[in-house]
Amino acid sequence: MTINKKLLGVAGTGMLTLMLSSQLLAHGDVTPQAVDTAGLAPLGEEWLEANPYGTDHPDHERAVEIGASAYNQNCARCHGLEGISGGIAPDLRMLEVGIEGDEWFQYRVINGAVRDGRVYMPKMADYLSQEALWAIRAWLETQHVEQ
Ligand code: HEC
Repeated sequence: MTINKKLLGVAGTGMLTLMLSSQLLAHGDVTPQAVDTAGLAPLGEEWLEANPYGTDHPDHERAVEIGASAYNQNCARCHGLEGISGGIAPDLRMLEVGIEGDEWFQYRVINGAVRDGRVYMPKMADYLSQEALWAIRAWLETQHVEQ
């Protein structure tokens, strides 16, 4: 009996968290917009360590173009329009250029930022393709400013 109650309790808490997070979703904090990545070389399932659409990639320009609008649709509400943070979330123009910045970018978009069950940043890679996310990274690098 006690065990059953405990189990019910755990299940209940799980349900609550689920309800709360879907409510967050419903409020538009996280309503990812599909990104059309047509024209970009497909990257497969496995996550790459570094941005493939760098300046020497044939699809670089297309990636920057797609990335700019994908950013504004999916990241700007927290990170600021055009990458200019209003202070809610870090200013992504200041991410390091090159592989260091790529690694941190990749880590964050895959893992999001979740502390004590609170979602500060959703796991964007659950909603957007690797192509779309690297395109955003390619655009961000064109906006880079030193800290
Ligand atoms: C719901 C708000 C929200 C959305 C939407 C969001 N982020 Fe974030 N992001 C945050 C917050 C808050 C942090 C800071 C997390 C921390 O330091 O704990 C963060 C951190 C980051 C970082 C690390 C920055 C640094 O300087 O450490 C990267 C990279 C990042 N986000 C990329 C993105 C990208 C790309 C998107 C869109 C595809 C996105 N985020 C969408 C809220 C958001």
